[in-house]
This record gives sequence, C-alpha cells and structure tokens, in this order.
Amino acid sequence: MISIVVCVGSSCFLRGASAVIEEFEKIAEGLGPKKFEIKGSFCMERCTDGVTVKVGDEIFTAVSPEDVPKIFESHIRPLIEAENAKLHSGVK
Ligand code: FES
Repeated sequence: MISIVVCVGSSCFLRGASAVIEEFEKIAEGLGPKKFEIKGSFCMERCTDGVTVKVGDEIFTAVSPEDVPKIFESHIRPLIEAENAKLHSGVK
C-alpha cells in the first residue's frame, strides 16, 4: 500500500495541512477501492517550508491544495500503476 504522509504539526496545520489532506481524500475517493493511504505525521522538521508531504522517499514542501493533483499525477499514480503491474504479474 502506498502511503502519503502529511505533516500535521502545528506550523503545517496553520499553513493548511487539513485542506491538503482533504484534496488527497477527494482523489482517493475518485479512484474507488483503496489505492493509497493518507497518514498524518508529527513535525517533519521543515516547518518554515510547510505544508510538508512525504510520498515514499520523496519530500514535498510548501504544498497547497492546488498542488495535490500535480503531485498525484507525477508521483503517486506511477506508484499505483507499478503496484498494479506487480500484482498482475504475480511478483510480490
Ligand atoms: S510542523 Fe510540519 S514540518 Fe514542522
């Protein structure tokens, strides 16, 4: 399962982490059965650049709700497709 981790530390919270999470949730709902999970995290130590989001090893900073579809298309959809390909090929 692909995890998207959104910082909900106080600085990121004040910078709109909830709205970022809502955007990811909207995309998740549109995809049908669970393709990724959204988790909250304590401070990721990039407070001055928040909202901070982590997908796999990649960290995104200054994320706004408007950035979420771009991040999804460029980084999350390819991971979902790779996971689907693995499932269909029988490789785990
Ligand atoms: S509160 Fe989000 S990086 Fe510190």
